[in-house]
Amino acid sequence: MKRILVTGGCGFIGRHVAQELTKNGYDVRLLDALVDQVHGGEAINLPTGAELIKGDVRDRDAVAEAVSDVDAVIHLAAEVGVGQSMYEIARYVGTNDLGTAVLLEALIKAPVERIVVASSMSIYGEGLYETADGKRIDDARRKTSDIKEGRWDLKSAAGEILSPVPTDEEKRPDLASIYALTKYMQERSVLIFGQAYGVDAVALRLFNVFGAGQALSNPYTGVLANFASRLANGKRPTIFEDGEQQRDFVHVRDVAAAFRLALEQRQAAGHAINIGSGHAYSIREVARLVGQAMGIPKRPPEILGKARSGDIRNCFADIAKARDLLGFEPMHCLENSLGEFATWVRNTVAIDRGAEMRRELEERGLVS
Ligand SMILES: NC(=O)c1ccc[n+]([C@@H]2O[C@H](COP(=O)([O-])OP(=O)(O)OC[C@H]3O[C@@H](n4cnc5c(N)ncnc54)[C@H](O)[C@@H]3O)[C@@H](O)[C@H]2O)c1
Repeated sequence: MKRILVTGGCGFIGRHVAQELTKNGYDVRLLDALVDQVHGGEAINLPTGAELIKGDVRDRDAVAEAVSDVDAVIHLAAEVGVGQSMYEIARYVGTNDLGTAVLLEALIKAPVERIVVASSMSIYGEGLYETADGKRIDDARRKTSDIKEGRWDLKSAAGEILSPVPTDEEKRPDLASIYALTKYMQERSVLIFGQAYGVDAVALRLFNVFGAGQALSNPYTGVLANFASRLANGKRPTIFEDGEQQRDFVHVRDVAAAFRLALEQRQAAGHAINIGSGHAYSIREVARLVGQAMGIPKRPPEILGKARSGDIRNCFADIAKARDLLGFEPMHCLENSLGEFATWVRNTVAIDRGAEMRRELEERGLVS
């Protein structure tokens, strides 16, 4: 494999994937519509040698041009805000579902060896839990009435508090947002397509990705970028619920390496694979670490005590399958990477649109 098409290649993850590929001797072509909410008209630094086709993944002509003469595709183009997907439904379904469909139809006419799609941890809904006696619970869900009363943690039918454990790929998907639904559609379509047409297909279920280059002024995505944007603008980070919810933060360079490995490791074909750090952090702890890295340790987060519709309590990755099939090993963690992230934030204009995002959700009754 030599020439690789990366859709959504100008985005946060796409630019790192392009760099990882060019560094490893691949020719890279990017297809990206340069969506305003992500790029805000800003200049984009692309790796030297990468070819850019400015075009929409729903546009058959642009996609046909993009797939001609490529050996493999990494499909990242998507609208990526969970909360926003709950009211801009046509936009999310359009880009994510229809866009993937248009891409796959183009690949019937211009076959490739391999396609790797960015799926998401959001497809799991709640992560995996265990009862006190070690019974696996893979369909845990919170009751709306509990959330309304501020009872955030998950309980069994008998009222026992459940413990979150690393989520593996066997966990049953539970789609709680339009975004999650579209990511599941992307994942399944690519794997079904791969099987039907004899194309090696891989889906990487990404957990919370962080690192330099995240869209700081786009409040709909990236909790770390949101915190940094608030702090850079002299405000306190805002946290939904009580801040004890846990997530897995994986560095964007580790994610880029995972995409390259997914192109290269034949045994990954046909699989959906978690890509995370394998560590759980509470959101409150993440806000503290970001404040510390930015030299503002004394601005504590504002704990809202409210929940967003479709939000889950805990989800962090079991990455045994990624280690086994891809030889994936995360090299970065929050503790050793936030310094670099903070330096990048200092040199970047961050417009804080957090309040705007909250208003959009509250007006539609999507916060309780
Ligand atoms: N960032 C995360 O934490 C995370 C987690 C799980 C999954 N993912 C997935 O990874 C992929 C990349 O995410 P990201 O964080 O880099 O997002 P991003 O918003 O930075 O990048 C997405 C890119 O896709 C482009 N795009 C959007 N609509 C398009 C369209 N109709 N046609 C062509 N290009 C279009 C945008 O201009 C942007 O450059 C997405 O598929 C996302 O769902 C991201």
